[in-house]
Parts: sequence; C-alpha cells; structure tokens
Amino acid sequence: MERKRILTGDRPTGKLHLGHYVGSLQNRVRLQDDYDCFFIIADLHTLTTKPEKEHIETLPDNVRSAALDYLSVGIDPARSVIYLQSAVPEVIELSLYFQNLVTVPRLSRIPSLKEMAQGAGIEEMPFGLLGYPVLQAADILLPRAHLVPVGKDNVAHVEITREIARRFNYLYGETFPVPEALVSEYGSLVGTDGNAKMSKSLNNAIFLSDDEKTVEKRVMSMYTDPKRVSADIPGTVEGNPVFDYHDAFNPDKVEVEDLKARYREGKVGDVEVKQKLAKAINAFLDPIRERRARYESQSGLADEVVYEGTMRMREEARATLATVRKAMGMSAVWNRISRKAEDARKKREGK
Ligand code: TRP
Repeated sequence: MERKRILTGDRPTGKLHLGHYVGSLQNRVRLQDDYDCFFIIADLHTLTTKPEKEHIETLPDNVRSAALDYLSVGIDPARSVIYLQSAVPEVIELSLYFQNLVTVPRLSRIPSLKEMAQGAGIEEMPFGLLGYPVLQAADILLPRAHLVPVGKDNVAHVEITREIARRFNYLYGETFPVPEALVSEYGSLVGTDGNAKMSKSLNNAIFLSDDEKTVEKRVMSMYTDPKRVSADIPGTVEGNPVFDYHDAFNPDKVEVEDLKARYREGKVGDVEVKQKLAKAINAFLDPIRERRARYESQSGLADEVVYEGTMRMREEARATLATVRKAMGMSAVWNRISRKAEDARKKREGK
C-alpha cells in the first residue's frame, strides 16, 4: 500500500533555532519513518511581507541555510523531499484556481495575517498577504498531502486548506485528500530572556548552528528567577526558562530532579545549574554539528539535495495539475482549439 504523505516547511528567513527543533523539526525527523515527507522551503511566501529587492537578495543564502538545518537535524534526503517553492511554478497556477474557492471576508478573519502585517509594519493588507493561506493550501495539496505538521499559528491555514479541498472536490469531483493539521504537543520554547517565544528577531535564541562557546555564553546569561539574588535563597522552578530547557534538552532526569530540589531549597547556585545546562545543550547539539560539518565539507551537496528534491516535486506537480485541469474541464478549453487548428491545417495542406 502507498504510504500517506506529509507536507510542511518554513519560510527561508534565516537560521533555525532550538525553538524550531522542539516545536517541529524533531517531529519531522520522527515522521519520516511512517510517511512520505515533502519539506518546502517557501520563498514565495516571504514576498507577502517583504517584496523588496534587498530582501530577495538574501534568499539564496537563507535557502541554503534552511536546507543545511534540515539535513543537520537528520532529515534524510534518501527518504524525504526537500524542495524550493519558487522553482515549482505549478503551485502558482493551483493557487490561482483556489483563489476562486474562498472568500475575502473568510480570509480577512484570520488573525495570523493581521499579525504578520503588523509585524512587518504594513498598514493596509496586501492582496498577496491575504492570499498567504491560499498559496499554502496549494503547497499542501500539490503533492496531495494527508497530514500537515505545523505550529499553532498555522492551524487556521490548514483549516482553509481543508475548506478549499472540500470545495474543490464538491465542484469538480473527488481530487484531493482533506488534510489534517498535526500540532506539536510541545507548544513553543521560551526565549533565553524569559520571553514567551524564542525568536531570532527578539535576539533570545540559541541556534542549531551555534558553536560550543556561543551556547555557553548564551546559557550563562539566561534569565532565571529574578527574586533569587543569592544562591541560598529558595528559588522557583516552574516557569523558569533554565529549568524548562533542562526538561527539554537534558536527558539525565536524575540530575535535573536533583538540581530542581536543591534550587527550591536554596542549595545550588545559578552558575552550577547553567553550566550543567550548557553541557546538556552542547551534547544535544553535537550530533547535529557533526552532520552539518559532513554536509558542509562537500561543497554543493546541500544544493544538490534541494535540486534533486525540486526535480522530484516537479514531477508530482505536473501530475497533479494535469488531474486538476482535467477535473475542472480547463484542459478542454485549449485542447479544442489546438485540435481544430490542427485539423484546419491538415485540410488546407490537402491531407
Ligand atoms: N506558513 C509557514 C510559516 O509560518 C510556512 C509554510 C509555507 C508552510 N507553506 C507551507 C507550512 C505548507 C506548512 C505547509 O512559515
């Protein structure tokens, strides 16, 4: 039996960090065992908030960095497809068909779009940004994916995708699976500054590509319990980012429980807790660093992975669009003209 399919991915906006890892990358690596996986590097989506040339010029480096991050965490190019959205133009055609199956008021009610506009300092909603979830629906349905692992902020986009798939199937006949969102049970990772979310723009991130010294530096300056001005004062473990990270990245549960107990009693210094955390995070990152080094040591290898993945995706895209045009009856429009023109030419030439 054919395996079910997954499609997910990211906009290429820069290096991925530990928050991306616990929120989604970890999930993706695991899902490769049971699904055929497609990972999109969604460069067209970045244009919805950043259409400027200066931004577009950053895309080549950011695409390569995303691919290296994927490969370094263990996405396996022998099993999974990593591809570049803008190099598969069928997605634009599919997105255009989908634009007619959803209303403007429906899209206008999606909070994430307003947030993205606000975040980018855009006052009035651009047409393309309003269509962001429609383009995403085209991404998801192009390989006819069944499951879409995403963060909470993208669930509304998968909901739009489901509505579009149903509407398409209703109008033109059963064509697409109605995909489901798979939301990571691990919400989002707090930032090193205690801010609710780790994010590059908040400068509170530990990146998957950070070296040992950088990790140490970032951990040692992490936000902890602010009420605890010296090591002999009992501290709070709950909601303390240092312990959140211990829970997420330190596999030595006995050590973590011991540190928590001593922290609560005022019997351990922040320095020890942080040193042990830096060690745990570095141990966690070591195999990721090794894989990255292996891919970086062979020049062009990461690019080759994206190239091959994109070629593979192009085949899928051609097949899906042929089915879509046929289901819609769109192929008949041009087919009729070309058939008649051919007949006319033959007749004129007396054949
Ligand atoms: N919208 C995703 C983000 O927030 C990126 C993305 C584009 C995506 N197309 C997708 C995610 C398809 C899942 C499926 O960056």
